[in-house]
Amino acid sequence: MNKKDGNVGVTPGIAKISTRNVNVYYGDKQAINDVSIDVDRENVTAFIGPSGCGKSTFLRSLNRMNDTVAGARVEGQILLDGEDIYASGMDVVQLRARVGMVFQKPNPFPKSIYDNVAYGPRIHGLASGKAELDQIVESSLTRAGLWTEVKDRLSESGTALSGGQQQRLCIARAIAVDPEVILMDEPCSALDPIATARIEELIHDLRGKYAIIIVTHNMQQAARVSQRTAFFHLGHLIEFGETSDIFTNPREDRTKDYITGRYG
Ligand SMILES: Nc1ncnc2c1ncn2[C@@H]1O[C@H](COP(=O)(O)OP(=O)(O)OP(=O)(O)O)[C@@H](O)[C@H]1O
Ligand SMILES: [Mg+2]
Repeated sequence: MNKKDGNVGVTPGIAKISTRNVNVYYGDKQAINDVSIDVDRENVTAFIGPSGCGKSTFLRSLNRMNDTVAGARVEGQILLDGEDIYASGMDVVQLRARVGMVFQKPNPFPKSIYDNVAYGPRIHGLASGKAELDQIVESSLTRAGLWTEVKDRLSESGTALSGGQQQRLCIARAIAVDPEVILMDEPCSALDPIATARIEELIHDLRGKYAIIIVTHNMQQAARVSQRTAFFHLGHLIEFGETSDIFTNPREDRTKDYITGRYG
């Protein structure tokens, strides 16, 4: 692997997402510096690094959520299956269906459980009628590991669920539009250990079906759920590789210091 700064994340082969020399700015302040990374389609990739190093900023650039942040500007190239997501003809609504996102704090819509999941399929015209929509809602909730808990209360508000159930509902909502990639920004940080374990199981189950990127501050979680890990520090991608290598035999001192808890 080429160790030249800016090439740390480049691996040969067919990636689901490839970024090249990505810089992200908030006004004059640069939050991401020259990040090039290839994200596998078959694996779960963890983004780790100290608070403020740019993990959320970089994650948001992958489905153009930064477009909605005042003053944010992205430079460089981000390819989804080889297609430039910042190209002028790109339909951003469509892009965000292809690259779904799950946030730190579960954010169900103030709508019924059913309507939370049906929302995306309705907007994108994915169902030809009620029966098909019902089927999408059921299969999405099933895949998110929530169906048996909610099947008799689909008309109740999504906000009435427990935190862990709400997060699974948000994952079901992301899955319902049949995405290609799911971005998760600290999806378990507001959850108790049992709900966290449930989400981790779910990530295992979804692996291979979707390319998944998870930001986490929990080293054990990164080690449990991911096959590839990227370590960020001060806006730079410092090291990227097999999760087992990053945690047992990191090449960079900054990675070692972080995973051994010396700072962060
Ligand atoms: N909307 C914004 N406007 C201006 N600066 C921002 C904005 N969002 C983030 N930043 C800055 O960009 C840098 C990276 O922030 P980011 O939220 O991406 O870090 P992070 O790695 O996700 O941190 P954490 O682990 O605490 O979530 C920080 O210096 C932060 O202050
Ligand atoms: Mg963050």
